[in-house]
Amino acid sequence: MMDEVIKDFDREKKEMKLIDENGKRIDGRSAEELRPVKMKVGVLNRADGSAYIEWGKNKVVAAVYGPREAQPRHIQNPLKGIVQARYNMVSFSVTDRKRPGPDRRSIEISKIISEALEAAVITESFPRTTIDVSMEVLQADAGTRCAGLTAASLALADAGVPMKDLVVACAAGKVDGQVVLDLLKEEDNYGQADLPVAIMPKSEEVVLLQMDGHLTQEEFDRALSMAIEGCKKLYEMQKEALKMSVGGE
Ligand code: CDP
Repeated sequence: MMDEVIKDFDREKKEMKLIDENGKRIDGRSAEELRPVKMKVGVLNRADGSAYIEWGKNKVVAAVYGPREAQPRHIQNPLKGIVQARYNMVSFSVTDRKRPGPDRRSIEISKIISEALEAAVITESFPRTTIDVSMEVLQADAGTRCAGLTAASLALADAGVPMKDLVVACAAGKVDGQVVLDLLKEEDNYGQADLPVAIMPKSEEVVLLQMDGHLTQEEFDRALSMAIEGCKKLYEMQKEALKMSVGGE
């Protein structure tokens, strides 16, 4: 009996229309529109740098500590510094309480974010050190790795860490057969593909690219350029947030 109820529920969800006849999505956005985003830099007193981002219903805070001597010593690189990012979702950030502590997903996200940030930081300037970046997802609604990475790069800038450029991330994907920008939770759950992308906007160098689901070559190209356009809009917001932190409010 219960199984049947669950099956019916799944079927209903699968048939749920995510884009209406006017091309509007469930939150009223068009295909190429970002969710509303707010960023604030310098939100924590005891970190060397910090930032907070609200992106749709996502809420993420990022903090930077360092550069400081890497411990234990065997992780030190005598030629350059290392970036160790830690992505964490708090228990109450998702609908079903999340078990505290690292899991496969958060370990993977921490790794790819570390690599994306390391591409931007001029690590050769501080050998043997580590820069620790901590991201806490307080509320999640799909796109948290992009929100975390975007906030983390602001926190690095706030800490005065020398970088080639800011890193900014945004996803595109496929929903109801259409390529769309910045998927929210229902679109991520019941859509056909999700493509998170991070770039350094000045050079357009891609520092993170993942794909969940299936896209044709043509759809992939469209999703990638849509995500890059999204990143460029977010980059302007990042620069504004940094200016506000210097000028004060
Ligand atoms: O957040 P992001 O899109 O980067 O990662 P995801 O693995 O594609 O997860 C999509 C969304 O699923 C998250 O943002 C959460 O809203 C949700 N989720 C959840 O409800 N419980 C989890 N343990 C993990 C993710």
